[in-house]
Amino acid sequence: MAKDLFYRKSTFIFDAFGTLFKTMPLEDSLERIIGRKAGELLLIWRKKQLEYSWLRNQMNAYVPFNEVTKEALDYAMRKVGVADERIAELLLPVYDQPTLISSAEALLKTLRVNGKQTAILSNGTPQMLKNGATRTGIHKDLDALLSVDQIRKYKPSPEVYQMALNQLDVKKEDALFFSSNQWDVSGASTFGLDAIWVNQYNETKESLPFGQVIEVDSLNAVIQYFE
Ligand code: 2OP
Repeated sequence: MAKDLFYRKSTFIFDAFGTLFKTMPLEDSLERIIGRKAGELLLIWRKKQLEYSWLRNQMNAYVPFNEVTKEALDYAMRKVGVADERIAELLLPVYDQPTLISSAEALLKTLRVNGKQTAILSNGTPQMLKNGATRTGIHKDLDALLSVDQIRKYKPSPEVYQMALNQLDVKKEDALFFSSNQWDVSGASTFGLDAIWVNQYNETKESLPFGQVIEVDSLNAVIQYFE
């Protein structure tokens, strides 16, 4: 069933952070600065970054994702009781200069070879997406880098998924959306996009609304459907 779906769809849209780009690569380096609090700080940072983006959606108080990311880090540092300025210098590049999850490049290349349109749709700023795509080389295999910044609304607002369809000039039924973030898979599939949940962190299924969703355990698993 998944194989048919992958062949039938013309346009493959990917979430960025957590799906194509790593969000927590630096626990060891952070441990060298703050010791055992590193893991806790990283978890609080990501959780608050997402929570603040959703709260700002509710309040119509958008600021770009780099600001939300910084505000969340400020909170996380207060919460775990650390204040070293090397922490922000180490961590903010995770989003400003992102690195690739293994198989992301190979998957995008496979999609290209198979004639698919490919895009990123992310809460990240245009600059974050540009930095990530160019420094890792995946810009060559992407038709579009779509940031929510142009409509100043964060995923999982339905307007964001509609914006992507408009910009890619594709009908809902011809697009497939990929994310490792369940809140994003829930948002996209509730909007009506067929979605792939890339459960590459082996997470427990959330009790959220889901439309048509197929679960795979890695980006590599998707490549295998094209072989
Ligand atoms: C994204 O890239 C924040 O992971 C989220 O849209």
